[in-house]
Amino acid sequence: MTRKSSPSIIAIDGPAASGKSTIGLKLAEALGYLFFDTGVMYRAVTWIALDHDIDVRDEAKVTALAEETPIDVTPASKSDGRACDVLVAGKDITWETRLPIVDANVSIVSAYPGVRAALSKQQRRIGQRGRVVMVGRDIGTVVLPEADLKIYLDASPEERARRRHAEMTARGANVKYEDILAKVIERDRIDSTRDVAPLRAAVDAVIIDSDKMSVNEVFEKALALCK
Ligand code: CDP
Repeated sequence: MTRKSSPSIIAIDGPAASGKSTIGLKLAEALGYLFFDTGVMYRAVTWIALDHDIDVRDEAKVTALAEETPIDVTPASKSDGRACDVLVAGKDITWETRLPIVDANVSIVSAYPGVRAALSKQQRRIGQRGRVVMVGRDIGTVVLPEADLKIYLDASPEERARRRHAEMTARGANVKYEDILAKVIERDRIDSTRDVAPLRAAVDAVIIDSDKMSVNEVFEKALALCK
């Protein structure tokens, strides 16, 4: 009997804080694949715009920034909780991309077609090399529709807000659950109603509802899909 090899391109999509990064990273480690979190690229452009005092509502300026800025996403160089390093012109902006101000503005930036075109192009180039777990909102639908395995990771807004709240509190942030829930719902609304590459499950994606599942249970289920 011949053993089928693991899928080479794995796409994981889903709404904010559904656990894509946690599961994606674990899966990539288990398979010896590259983990690529595409959300950090949208976050990097958002942070650079804010840092340069560019109004995120200025589509032309933000788009030019996305086209001109070389963003590097490399394996984590420190064990301080990061899944990868985010570098812009050699500067480490990993933690800046996680600031609440970035959370609040990233969906505005990621809705711009020119920003998406610039970043998807880079993501596609990396994804097509294979042996990769790529996570985002539109990987299975737009960036890598040819992916061998597509997972759509879902959970209720309340559960996702609870997870994000725990994660931020553990990092020392003083944040209220209700505020996080409102922001998660608002980000989902913008991500799923935008014209270009809206958040949705690909028709051939396996949907995992992780509401009542532990991280390990989701991981085991995802791993089983790779075997
Ligand atoms: O970690 P979390 O789910 O909160 O967010 P993320 O994956 O870091 O993505 C941040 C934002 O970038 C999302 O809310 C989307 O607006 C955008 N994004 C996107 O449009 N397309 C992707 N492939 C990845 C992220």
